[in-house]
Amino acid sequence: MVSQFDRRAVMLGGAVAAGAVVSAAQAKVAKTLARPGFLWGSAGAAYQIEGGNYASDLWVMEHAKPTIFKDPSGDAADSYNRVWEDIALAASLGFNTHRFSIEWSRIEPEPGQISLAGIAYYRRVLETIRRHGMTPFVTYNHFTTPRWFAAAGGFETRDGIAPFVRYCTLITQHLDDLIGLASTFNEPNLGALVSWSPAIRPLRPYIEMSRKAAAASIGAARFAPPVLGDFRIQQPIMIEAHERAHEAIRKASNDRYLVGVTLSLNDERAPASGPSGVEAKQAQVMLPWLAAQGDFIGVQNYTYTEVGPDADLPAPKGVELSQMGYPAAPEALEAVIRTVANHTNKPIYVTENGVATEDDIRRVAFIDRAVAGVVNCLRDGIDVRGYIHWSLLDNWEWFSGYGPKFGLVAIDRATFARTPKPSARHMGAIARKGLPAGLKSR
Ligand code: BGC
Repeated sequence: MVSQFDRRAVMLGGAVAAGAVVSAAQAKVAKTLARPGFLWGSAGAAYQIEGGNYASDLWVMEHAKPTIFKDPSGDAADSYNRVWEDIALAASLGFNTHRFSIEWSRIEPEPGQISLAGIAYYRRVLETIRRHGMTPFVTYNHFTTPRWFAAAGGFETRDGIAPFVRYCTLITQHLDDLIGLASTFNEPNLGALVSWSPAIRPLRPYIEMSRKAAAASIGAARFAPPVLGDFRIQQPIMIEAHERAHEAIRKASNDRYLVGVTLSLNDERAPASGPSGVEAKQAQVMLPWLAAQGDFIGVQNYTYTEVGPDADLPAPKGVELSQMGYPAAPEALEAVIRTVANHTNKPIYVTENGVATEDDIRRVAFIDRAVAGVVNCLRDGIDVRGYIHWSLLDNWEWFSGYGPKFGLVAIDRATFARTPKPSARHMGAIARKGLPAGLKSR
Protein backbone atom coordinates (compact mmCIF):
# COMPACT_ATOMS: atom_id res chain seq x y z
CA MET A 1 0.00 0.00 0.00
CA VAL A 2 1.22 3.48 -0.78
CA SER A 3 1.63 5.36 2.48
CA GLN A 4 0.17 8.82 3.05
CA PHE A 5 3.62 10.26 2.77
CA ASP A 6 4.55 8.51 -0.47
CA ARG A 7 1.18 9.33 -1.96
CA ARG A 8 1.85 12.99 -1.34
CA ALA A 9 5.29 12.84 -2.89
CA VAL A 10 3.90 11.07 -5.95
CA MET A 11 1.02 13.49 -6.25
CA LEU A 12 3.48 16.31 -6.21
CA GLY A 13 5.15 14.75 -9.18
CA GLY A 14 8.60 14.60 -7.66
CA ALA A 15 8.75 11.23 -5.98
CA VAL A 16 12.52 11.00 -5.92
CA ALA A 17 13.45 14.54 -5.03
CA ALA A 18 10.55 15.04 -2.66
CA GLY A 19 11.05 11.60 -1.12
CA ALA A 20 14.64 12.42 -0.20
CA VAL A 21 13.70 15.65 1.54
CA VAL A 22 10.64 14.11 3.10
CA SER A 23 12.45 11.28 4.81
CA ALA A 24 15.03 13.65 6.27
CA ALA A 25 12.20 15.80 7.56
CA GLN A 26 10.22 12.83 8.82
CA ALA A 27 12.64 12.01 11.61
CA LYS A 28 12.47 15.59 12.76
CA VAL A 29 8.70 15.60 12.60
CA ALA A 30 8.33 12.75 15.05
CA LYS A 31 10.48 14.71 17.47
CA THR A 32 8.94 18.12 17.05
CA LEU A 33 5.25 17.28 16.72
CA ALA A 34 5.27 16.66 20.45
CA ARG A 35 4.22 19.74 22.47
CA PRO A 36 7.16 22.10 22.10
CA GLY A 37 6.72 24.08 25.33
CA PHE A 38 6.65 27.86 25.26
CA LEU A 39 7.09 29.15 21.73
CA TRP A 40 9.52 31.95 20.95
CA GLY A 41 9.93 33.28 17.47
CA SER A 42 9.12 35.79 14.81
CA ALA A 43 6.50 36.09 12.11
CA GLY A 44 6.02 37.14 8.52
CA ALA A 45 3.30 37.04 5.90
CA ALA A 46 3.71 35.79 2.35
CA TYR A 47 2.51 38.88 0.53
CA GLN A 48 4.71 41.21 2.58
CA ILE A 49 7.95 39.37 1.94
CA GLU A 50 7.77 36.93 -0.99
CA GLY A 51 7.51 39.42 -3.85
CA GLY A 52 5.88 38.87 -7.23
CA ASN A 53 2.46 37.72 -6.03
CA TYR A 54 0.93 38.69 -9.37
CA ALA A 55 -2.22 36.59 -8.95
CA SER A 56 -3.21 38.18 -5.62
CA ASP A 57 -5.95 40.73 -5.13
CA LEU A 58 -3.76 43.51 -3.79
CA TRP A 59 -1.41 43.31 -6.76
CA VAL A 60 -4.34 44.43 -8.90
CA MET A 61 -5.15 47.27 -6.51
CA GLU A 62 -1.56 48.47 -6.31
CA HIS A 63 -1.37 48.81 -10.10
CA ALA A 64 -4.81 50.27 -10.81
CA LYS A 65 -5.19 54.03 -11.03
CA PRO A 66 -6.02 55.60 -8.67
CA THR A 67 -4.67 53.44 -5.89
CA ILE A 68 -4.54 53.93 -2.15
CA PHE A 69 -1.25 52.05 -1.96
CA LYS A 70 1.84 54.14 -1.36
CA ASP A 71 4.33 51.71 -2.90
CA PRO A 72 3.71 48.62 -5.01
CA SER A 73 4.87 45.48 -3.21
CA GLY A 74 7.07 44.48 -6.19
CA ASP A 75 9.88 42.16 -5.20
CA ALA A 76 9.20 42.73 -1.48
CA ALA A 77 12.06 41.02 0.39
CA ASP A 78 12.41 38.41 -2.37
CA SER A 79 11.67 35.79 0.25
CA TYR A 80 10.07 33.57 -2.36
CA ASN A 81 13.65 32.82 -3.39
CA ARG A 82 15.37 33.47 -0.09
CA VAL A 83 13.02 31.90 2.44
CA TRP A 84 15.59 29.16 3.11
CA GLU A 85 18.03 31.81 4.25
CA ASP A 86 15.32 33.51 6.35
CA ILE A 87 14.43 30.27 8.13
CA ALA A 88 18.08 29.41 8.79
CA LEU A 89 18.60 32.89 10.18
CA ALA A 90 15.55 32.68 12.49
CA ALA A 91 16.77 29.31 13.79
CA SER A 92 20.32 30.57 14.26
CA LEU A 93 19.01 33.39 16.44
CA GLY A 94 17.61 30.78 18.84
CA PHE A 95 13.91 30.71 17.95
CA ASN A 96 11.85 27.53 18.31
CA THR A 97 8.94 28.57 16.11
CA HIS A 98 8.49 30.31 12.78
CA ARG A 99 5.16 31.85 11.78
CA PHE A 100 4.49 32.28 8.08
CA SER A 101 1.53 32.33 5.71
CA ILE A 102 0.61 30.43 2.59
CA GLU A 103 -0.37 32.61 -0.37
CA TRP A 104 -3.68 31.24 -1.64
CA SER A 105 -3.14 32.68 -5.12
CA ARG A 106 0.02 30.60 -5.54
CA ILE A 107 -2.01 27.48 -4.78
CA GLU A 108 -5.14 28.36 -6.78
CA PRO A 109 -4.24 31.08 -9.30
CA GLU A 110 -7.52 30.52 -11.17
CA PRO A 111 -10.69 29.09 -9.62
CA GLY A 112 -10.28 25.34 -9.28
CA GLN A 113 -6.88 25.30 -10.97
CA ILE A 114 -4.54 23.86 -8.37
CA SER A 115 -0.81 24.43 -8.60
CA LEU A 116 0.92 21.30 -7.35
CA ALA A 117 4.20 23.15 -7.69
CA GLY A 118 2.79 25.82 -5.39
CA ILE A 119 1.91 23.21 -2.78
CA ALA A 120 5.30 21.54 -3.19
CA TYR A 121 6.97 24.90 -2.57
CA TYR A 122 5.27 25.36 0.80
CA ARG A 123 6.02 21.74 1.63
CA ARG A 124 9.71 22.55 1.21
CA VAL A 125 9.25 25.62 3.41
CA LEU A 126 7.68 23.47 6.14
CA GLU A 127 10.37 20.82 5.82
CA THR A 128 13.07 23.46 6.11
CA ILE A 129 11.50 24.86 9.28
CA ARG A 130 11.33 21.34 10.73
CA ARG A 131 14.91 20.55 9.72
CA HIS A 132 15.98 23.61 11.68
CA GLY A 133 14.20 22.23 14.72
CA MET A 134 11.42 24.85 14.76
CA THR A 135 7.66 24.40 15.02
CA PRO A 136 5.92 25.73 11.90
CA PHE A 137 3.05 28.06 12.75
CA VAL A 138 0.98 28.38 9.60
CA THR A 139 -1.45 31.14 8.72
CA TYR A 140 -3.75 29.77 6.03
CA ASN A 141 -4.77 33.28 5.03
CA HIS A 142 -2.94 36.49 5.86
CA PHE A 143 -5.13 39.18 4.25
CA THR A 144 -4.55 38.55 0.54
CA THR A 145 -6.72 36.30 -1.64
CA PRO A 146 -6.54 35.34 -5.32
CA ARG A 147 -7.66 38.14 -7.63
CA TRP A 148 -10.49 35.94 -8.97
CA PHE A 149 -11.80 35.56 -5.41
CA ALA A 150 -11.94 39.34 -4.86
CA ALA A 151 -13.55 39.79 -8.28
CA ALA A 152 -16.23 37.28 -7.28
CA GLY A 153 -17.08 39.37 -4.20
CA GLY A 154 -14.63 37.94 -1.65
CA PHE A 155 -16.24 37.58 1.76
CA GLU A 156 -18.81 40.25 1.01
CA THR A 157 -20.86 37.31 -0.21
CA ARG A 158 -21.57 33.94 1.39
CA ASP A 159 -20.36 32.40 -1.88
CA GLY A 160 -16.86 33.11 -0.60
CA ILE A 161 -17.14 30.53 2.17
CA ALA A 162 -16.99 27.34 0.10
CA PRO A 163 -13.85 28.20 -1.93
CA PHE A 164 -12.02 29.20 1.25
CA VAL A 165 -12.95 25.97 3.04
CA ARG A 166 -11.89 23.99 -0.05
CA TYR A 167 -8.53 25.75 -0.09
CA CYS A 168 -7.99 25.07 3.64
CA THR A 169 -8.92 21.41 3.16
CA LEU A 170 -6.55 21.04 0.22
CA ILE A 171 -3.63 22.58 2.10
CA THR A 172 -4.32 20.32 5.07
CA GLN A 173 -4.54 17.17 2.95
CA HIS A 174 -1.13 17.90 1.47
CA LEU A 175 0.76 19.47 4.35
CA ASP A 176 -0.78 18.45 7.66
CA ASP A 177 2.05 16.09 8.60
CA LEU A 178 4.45 19.01 8.90
CA ILE A 179 2.29 21.77 10.40
CA GLY A 180 2.69 22.46 14.12
CA LEU A 181 -0.05 25.03 14.76
CA ALA A 182 -2.32 26.96 12.47
CA SER A 183 -4.69 29.85 12.22
CA THR A 184 -7.36 30.11 9.58
CA PHE A 185 -7.37 33.88 9.19
CA ASN A 186 -4.99 36.60 10.25
CA GLU A 187 -6.84 39.47 11.93
CA PRO A 188 -10.26 39.05 10.33
CA ASN A 189 -11.42 41.66 12.87
CA LEU A 190 -9.11 44.38 11.56
CA GLY A 191 -11.85 46.12 9.54
CA ALA A 192 -14.02 46.37 12.66
CA LEU A 193 -11.08 47.65 14.71
CA VAL A 194 -10.07 50.40 12.30
CA SER A 195 -13.67 51.47 11.76
CA TRP A 196 -13.31 53.14 15.18
CA SER A 197 -10.37 55.22 14.03
CA PRO A 198 -11.24 58.81 13.08
CA ALA A 199 -8.24 58.78 10.73
CA ILE A 200 -9.74 55.98 8.63
CA ARG A 201 -13.22 57.41 8.18
CA PRO A 202 -12.25 60.18 5.74
CA LEU A 203 -10.38 57.61 3.65
CA ARG A 204 -13.52 55.60 2.84
CA PRO A 205 -14.27 57.36 -0.47
CA TYR A 206 -10.68 56.80 -1.61
CA ILE A 207 -10.84 53.13 -0.71
CA GLU A 208 -14.05 52.89 -2.72
CA MET A 209 -12.42 54.67 -5.68
CA SER A 210 -9.42 52.39 -5.49
CA ARG A 211 -11.66 49.29 -5.41
CA LYS A 212 -13.61 50.52 -8.44
CA ALA A 213 -10.42 51.26 -10.34
CA ALA A 214 -9.14 47.76 -9.58
CA ALA A 215 -12.40 46.20 -10.80
CA ALA A 216 -12.26 48.25 -14.01
CA SER A 217 -8.60 47.37 -14.60
CA ILE A 218 -9.46 43.67 -14.89
CA GLY A 219 -12.90 44.08 -16.43
CA ALA A 220 -14.71 42.88 -13.31
CA ALA A 221 -18.00 44.24 -12.02
CA ARG A 222 -16.67 44.51 -8.45
CA PHE A 223 -13.54 43.96 -6.44
CA ALA A 224 -13.64 42.99 -2.78
CA PRO A 225 -10.26 42.15 -1.27
CA PRO A 226 -11.18 41.06 2.27
CA VAL A 227 -8.68 43.45 3.82
CA LEU A 228 -10.56 46.34 2.23
CA GLY A 229 -14.04 44.86 2.36
CA ASP A 230 -17.06 46.19 4.19
CA PHE A 231 -16.59 44.67 7.63
CA ARG A 232 -20.26 44.89 8.57
CA ILE A 233 -21.13 42.55 5.73
CA GLN A 234 -17.97 40.49 6.02
CA GLN A 235 -17.84 39.78 9.74
CA PRO A 236 -20.61 37.15 10.03
CA ILE A 237 -19.50 35.58 6.77
CA MET A 238 -15.87 35.37 7.86
CA ILE A 239 -16.87 33.92 11.23
CA GLU A 240 -18.76 31.19 9.42
CA ALA A 241 -15.84 30.66 7.01
CA HIS A 242 -13.45 30.41 9.96
CA GLU A 243 -15.64 27.91 11.80
CA ARG A 244 -16.15 25.73 8.75
CA ALA A 245 -12.44 25.90 7.92
CA HIS A 246 -11.58 25.03 11.52
CA GLU A 247 -13.78 21.95 11.31
CA ALA A 248 -12.43 20.97 7.90
CA ILE A 249 -8.79 21.32 8.96
CA ARG A 250 -9.31 19.37 12.18
CA LYS A 251 -11.04 16.61 10.22
CA ALA A 252 -8.56 16.42 7.34
CA SER A 253 -5.63 16.39 9.77
CA ASN A 254 -7.17 13.95 12.23
CA ASP A 255 -6.90 16.60 14.93
CA ARG A 256 -3.15 16.68 14.51
CA TYR A 257 -2.68 20.33 15.50
CA LEU A 258 -4.50 23.21 17.14
CA VAL A 259 -6.32 25.59 14.81
CA GLY A 260 -7.18 29.07 16.01
CA VAL A 261 -7.65 32.58 14.76
CA THR A 262 -5.42 35.60 15.31
CA LEU A 263 -6.96 38.93 16.26
CA SER A 264 -5.88 42.54 16.07
CA LEU A 265 -6.44 43.90 19.56
CA ASN A 266 -5.58 47.25 21.06
CA ASP A 267 -5.47 47.89 24.76
CA GLU A 268 -8.78 49.76 24.83
CA ARG A 269 -8.82 52.40 27.54
CA ALA A 270 -11.64 54.55 28.89
CA PRO A 271 -10.93 58.27 28.41
CA ALA A 272 -9.76 60.18 31.49
CA SER A 273 -13.04 62.07 31.39
CA GLY A 274 -16.26 61.72 29.46
CA PRO A 275 -18.15 58.66 28.27
CA SER A 276 -16.32 55.49 27.25
CA GLY A 277 -16.93 53.32 24.22
CA VAL A 278 -14.68 50.49 25.40
CA GLU A 279 -17.46 47.98 25.94
CA ALA A 280 -19.23 48.79 22.68
CA LYS A 281 -15.94 48.53 20.78
CA GLN A 282 -15.00 45.21 22.37
CA ALA A 283 -18.48 43.86 21.67
CA GLN A 284 -17.96 44.63 18.01
CA VAL A 285 -14.27 43.94 17.52
CA MET A 286 -13.34 41.15 19.92
CA LEU A 287 -16.20 39.26 21.53
CA PRO A 288 -17.76 37.68 18.42
CA TRP A 289 -14.38 36.17 17.56
CA LEU A 290 -13.68 34.96 21.08
CA ALA A 291 -17.04 33.21 21.00
CA ALA A 292 -16.35 31.56 17.65
CA GLN A 293 -15.26 27.94 17.48
CA GLY A 294 -11.47 27.44 17.59
CA ASP A 295 -8.67 25.99 19.68
CA PHE A 296 -6.73 29.09 20.68
CA ILE A 297 -6.66 32.85 20.35
CA GLY A 298 -3.72 34.54 18.67
CA VAL A 299 -3.24 37.95 20.24
CA GLN A 300 -1.75 40.63 17.98
CA ASN A 301 -1.11 43.91 19.68
CA TYR A 302 0.81 47.07 18.88
CA THR A 303 -0.75 49.89 20.84
CA TYR A 304 -3.48 51.23 23.09
CA THR A 305 -6.35 53.56 22.30
CA GLU A 306 -8.61 55.76 24.33
CA VAL A 307 -12.12 55.07 23.17
CA GLY A 308 -14.88 57.64 23.14
CA PRO A 309 -18.54 56.63 22.77
CA ASP A 310 -18.40 56.07 19.02
CA ALA A 311 -14.78 56.57 17.97
CA ASP A 312 -11.20 56.37 19.22
CA LEU A 313 -9.80 59.60 20.61
CA PRO A 314 -6.58 61.10 19.26
CA ALA A 315 -3.41 59.86 20.98
CA PRO A 316 -2.57 61.90 24.07
CA LYS A 317 -0.17 64.77 23.38
CA GLY A 318 3.52 64.15 23.95
CA VAL A 319 3.46 60.34 23.96
CA GLU A 320 6.04 58.45 21.94
CA LEU A 321 4.62 57.40 18.58
CA SER A 322 5.87 54.66 16.30
CA GLN A 323 6.42 55.17 12.56
CA MET A 324 2.80 54.05 12.16
CA GLY A 325 1.61 57.20 13.93
CA TYR A 326 0.13 55.45 17.00
CA PRO A 327 1.63 55.23 20.48
CA ALA A 328 4.51 52.77 20.80
CA ALA A 329 3.21 50.94 23.85
CA PRO A 330 4.84 47.66 24.88
CA GLU A 331 2.85 47.60 28.12
CA ALA A 332 -0.35 47.33 26.08
CA LEU A 333 0.33 43.64 25.40
CA GLU A 334 -0.02 42.56 29.01
CA ALA A 335 -3.30 44.43 29.33
CA VAL A 336 -4.67 42.83 26.18
CA ILE A 337 -3.69 39.30 27.25
CA ARG A 338 -5.47 39.89 30.55
CA THR A 339 -8.58 41.20 28.78
CA VAL A 340 -8.71 38.20 26.47
CA ALA A 341 -8.15 35.80 29.38
CA ASN A 342 -11.07 37.42 31.21
CA HIS A 343 -13.35 36.49 28.32
CA THR A 344 -12.16 33.04 27.26
CA ASN A 345 -10.54 29.91 28.65
CA LYS A 346 -8.81 29.14 25.38
CA PRO A 347 -5.01 29.09 25.29
CA ILE A 348 -3.42 32.33 24.12
CA TYR A 349 -0.47 32.72 21.79
CA VAL A 350 0.99 36.14 21.18
CA THR A 351 1.21 35.80 17.41
CA GLU A 352 2.28 39.41 16.71
CA ASN A 353 3.73 42.25 18.73
CA GLY A 354 6.30 44.81 17.70
CA VAL A 355 7.13 48.40 16.89
CA ALA A 356 7.86 50.28 13.68
CA THR A 357 11.00 52.29 14.28
CA GLU A 358 14.35 53.13 12.68
CA ASP A 359 15.83 53.18 16.16
CA ASP A 360 16.65 49.59 17.03
CA ILE A 361 17.52 50.49 20.62
CA ARG A 362 13.85 51.39 21.06
CA ARG A 363 12.90 47.99 19.66
CA VAL A 364 15.14 46.23 22.20
CA ALA A 365 13.50 48.14 25.06
CA PHE A 366 10.07 47.45 23.57
CA ILE A 367 10.73 43.70 23.46
CA ASP A 368 11.93 43.64 27.07
CA ARG A 369 8.83 45.40 28.34
CA ALA A 370 6.45 43.32 26.22
CA VAL A 371 8.04 40.02 27.28
CA ALA A 372 7.95 41.12 30.93
CA GLY A 373 4.20 41.59 30.49
CA VAL A 374 3.83 38.05 29.14
CA VAL A 375 5.80 36.71 32.10
CA ASN A 376 3.54 38.62 34.53
CA CYS A 377 0.53 36.97 32.91
CA LEU A 378 2.09 33.51 33.21
CA ARG A 379 2.87 34.13 36.87
CA ASP A 380 -0.81 34.89 37.38
CA GLY A 381 -1.72 31.53 35.87
CA ILE A 382 -2.90 32.81 32.48
CA ASP A 383 -2.53 30.19 29.77
CA VAL A 384 -0.12 32.00 27.42
CA ARG A 385 1.88 29.64 25.25
CA GLY A 386 4.13 31.74 23.08
CA TYR A 387 5.55 35.13 22.13
CA ILE A 388 6.06 35.66 18.41
CA HIS A 389 7.55 38.98 17.42
CA TRP A 390 6.48 40.94 14.38
CA SER A 391 8.47 40.82 12.28
CA LEU A 392 11.53 38.80 11.27
CA LEU A 393 12.22 41.08 8.29
CA ASP A 394 11.72 44.69 7.38
CA ASN A 395 8.98 44.30 4.82
CA TRP A 396 6.19 45.80 2.74
CA GLU A 397 3.82 47.35 5.23
CA TRP A 398 0.55 47.32 3.26
CA PHE A 399 -0.80 50.86 2.74
CA SER A 400 2.32 52.41 4.26
CA GLY A 401 4.64 50.77 1.73
CA TYR A 402 8.30 50.37 2.52
CA GLY A 403 8.56 53.18 5.11
CA PRO A 404 7.88 51.53 8.48
CA LYS A 405 10.56 49.24 9.86
CA PHE A 406 9.16 46.44 12.01
CA GLY A 407 11.99 43.97 11.34
CA LEU A 408 14.54 42.33 13.56
CA VAL A 409 16.50 42.01 10.33
CA ALA A 410 17.19 44.79 7.82
CA ILE A 411 16.84 44.19 4.08
CA ASP A 412 18.96 45.95 1.49
CA ARG A 413 16.30 46.72 -1.10
CA ALA A 414 18.78 46.58 -3.98
CA THR A 415 20.67 43.37 -3.14
CA PHE A 416 18.15 41.78 -0.74
CA ALA A 417 21.01 41.15 1.68
CA ARG A 418 19.75 40.38 5.17
CA THR A 419 21.44 42.07 8.14
CA PRO A 420 20.31 41.13 11.65
CA LYS A 421 19.88 44.17 13.90
CA PRO A 422 20.92 44.12 17.59
CA SER A 423 17.26 43.46 18.44
CA ALA A 424 17.44 40.16 16.52
CA ARG A 425 20.23 38.90 18.75
CA HIS A 426 18.44 40.31 21.77
CA MET A 427 15.19 38.51 20.96
CA GLY A 428 17.22 35.38 20.20
CA ALA A 429 18.93 35.54 23.60
CA ILE A 430 15.52 35.81 25.29
CA ALA A 431 14.33 32.77 23.36
CA ARG A 432 17.42 30.72 24.25
CA LYS A 433 17.14 31.60 27.90
CA GLY A 434 13.45 30.68 27.95
CA LEU A 435 10.99 31.40 30.71
CA PRO A 436 12.27 32.36 34.16
CA ALA A 437 12.96 29.41 36.46
CA GLY A 438 9.82 27.87 37.89
CA LEU A 439 7.56 29.16 35.12
CA LYS A 440 6.13 26.80 32.54
CA SER A 441 3.58 27.18 29.83
CA ARG A 442 0.80 24.62 29.73
C1 BGC B 1 -0.62 42.50 10.39
C2 BGC B 1 0.73 42.55 9.74
C3 BGC B 1 1.25 43.99 9.76
C4 BGC B 1 1.41 44.38 11.22
C5 BGC B 1 2.01 45.75 11.44
C6 BGC B 1 -0.76 43.36 11.60
O1 BGC B 1 -1.94 44.08 11.45
O2 BGC B 1 -1.00 41.16 10.65
O3 BGC B 1 0.60 42.06 8.44
O4 BGC B 1 2.41 44.16 9.04
O5 BGC B 1 0.16 44.35 11.84
O6 BGC B 1 1.21 46.77 11.00
